[in-house]
Amino acid sequence: MNRLPVIIDTDPGIDDAVAIAAALFSPQLEVKLISTVSGNVSVEKTTRNALQLMTFWQQSVPVARGAAAPLLRPARDASNVHGESGMAGYPFASSEQCAIDKPAFLAIYDCLLASEEPITLVTIGPLTNIAMLLAQYPECKPRIKRIVMMGGSSGRGNLTPNAEFNIAVDPEAAAHVFNSGLDIVMCGLDVTNHAMLTPEYLATLPGLNRTGEMLHAIFSHYRSGSMETGLRMHDLTAIAFLVKPELFRTQACFVAVETQGEYTSGTTVVDIEQRLGRPANAQVALEIDVIGFQQWVTEALALAP
Ligand code: RIB
Ligand code: CA
Repeated sequence: MNRLPVIIDTDPGIDDAVAIAAALFSPQLEVKLISTVSGNVSVEKTTRNALQLMTFWQQSVPVARGAAAPLLRPARDASNVHGESGMAGYPFASSEQCAIDKPAFLAIYDCLLASEEPITLVTIGPLTNIAMLLAQYPECKPRIKRIVMMGGSSGRGNLTPNAEFNIAVDPEAAAHVFNSGLDIVMCGLDVTNHAMLTPEYLATLPGLNRTGEMLHAIFSHYRSGSMETGLRMHDLTAIAFLVKPELFRTQACFVAVETQGEYTSGTTVVDIEQRLGRPANAQVALEIDVIGFQQWVTEALALAP
């Protein structure tokens, strides 16, 4: 089977870590590059965390360090959800590799140009690096197959009342991406809030494999849900879409990103009823087969070492 080449742009991040695990060990995907961005924690920490994950799994996927702050706004973090380190709870060994010697947006560009086929960008953090790539190298668009993102919401937010974290941290970057004309799949809170791992499944992780043992340790420090009530797998949902799209109901919608609102900046305005008369610019995931997702996670994590 031909593997789908992907680049993962990420801010690990506990739910990022499990998404990276599922992608690395999926027989359907080939991870060509991991680029980091400031988001859940600083880019220094997200980069260190990505490198430690590569060492944990003895993988040689290149890691490129990305933007230290959003395009225009001060950096924000989600250490209250992921811990001060961004991946609290497990004693990761120091990484055996360093980040490559070029910024993420340039590393992504070079990876796109070196590929024999267009690459899917999987974005599971704020979109700063992607906006920088598109602004600096607009000619690279034909080399991007599509963007599959964890981000946004057609309804309530999780950083502000209306805005989801990955979009709200850098609304200007997100607006640039949604206005790019690229094929975009938006896996927002409409589906990721339902993409739960149950307490019963979580309890099986320590006995699954090394990856399960590590994930159980960091999940114990993850605050999007709880070990007792279940954990929301926001970023893992984007990987699920890539390999099991049949688990989702999507709708082509016009999506606008609010950048001016005093209380609403970062809101993804998803025009489900086509009231704005604007052409659709994204496939928006509105429903997920939760049982099917949970079954897939069980299979996906069993493939990890
Ligand atoms: O809103 C959830 C998103 O914000 C996830 O990507 C999580 O890792 C945080 O970055
Ligand atoms: Ca993330």
